[in-house]
Amino acid sequence: MPAFSQELVERLAQATSAMALTGAGISAESGVPTFRDPGGLWEEFSPQELANVEAFLDNPKLVQSWYAHRHAVVAEVEPNPGHYALAELERLLEDFTVVTQNVDGLHQQAGSTNVAELHGNIRRAYCIDCEAPAPEGALAPDGDDIARCPTCGGLLRPDVVWFGEMLPRKEVQRAEQATQRADVCLSVGTSALVYPAAAIPQQARANGAYVAEINIEPSAIADQIDETVIGKAGDVLPALLDAVRAIA
Ligand code: OAD
Repeated sequence: MPAFSQELVERLAQATSAMALTGAGISAESGVPTFRDPGGLWEEFSPQELANVEAFLDNPKLVQSWYAHRHAVVAEVEPNPGHYALAELERLLEDFTVVTQNVDGLHQQAGSTNVAELHGNIRRAYCIDCEAPAPEGALAPDGDDIARCPTCGGLLRPDVVWFGEMLPRKEVQRAEQATQRADVCLSVGTSALVYPAAAIPQQARANGAYVAEINIEPSAIADQIDETVIGKAGDVLPALLDAVRAIA
């Protein structure tokens, strides 16, 4: 049985509004590699090389191929019990928002409907010239071709946030509103190293929320929040859901 406190259970059960900030760790048990753990994505590739607009313009084929590969991984995997437990919390509680740094769409696939995607979604792509959306899978053309817009011939890029880019305004607003309202904030499977997302748990706490993180090890913000629950998201979240259900 994961070691979360009774206080966390009671606060969630009584919350008028609650939220979860999620990171790559929640999708790890689905088979999506994280960024910074051993074997993670940034170990194999440097973000400077691939996740910025200059790298893309220098070598569009390389960057498109990397994202096409990541898209192929994501298209094959399924949500895990952690994603499903958060979707269930949305149904159980009055108001529940998932704010995710993940680009894999697995929260929506698990049934969450109130999801703010701070870093975009790897299933989408668009043209850097005319901004027209491209069909899913368009970044993986046959052979050595560079993937181009069917309408204007411009380069296609994934609809994800790269280093040095602004986060999508509407998604940020939804995240800010959820952070202001939340009585409880769960920070799940994130190293809490990449800002502005990493500031959300502390902002929620400053607004009066009870903040608990769920991670296989303490994150960078562990000493600034109320509780760290050590364990896999796919074990802890279903157990937490059951405990909340028992008293809600
Ligand atoms: P990281 O790879 O930095 O962190 C993953 C976290 O998940 C670590 O703290 C792990 O300990 C934890 N973890 C691993 N497996 C877990 C499990 N089964 N259950 C619970 N926790 C687990 O990923 P993020 O924090 O999401 O941004 O990284 C933030 C951002 O950095 C990403 O969105 C991406 C990257 O640069 C962009 O691409 C803009």
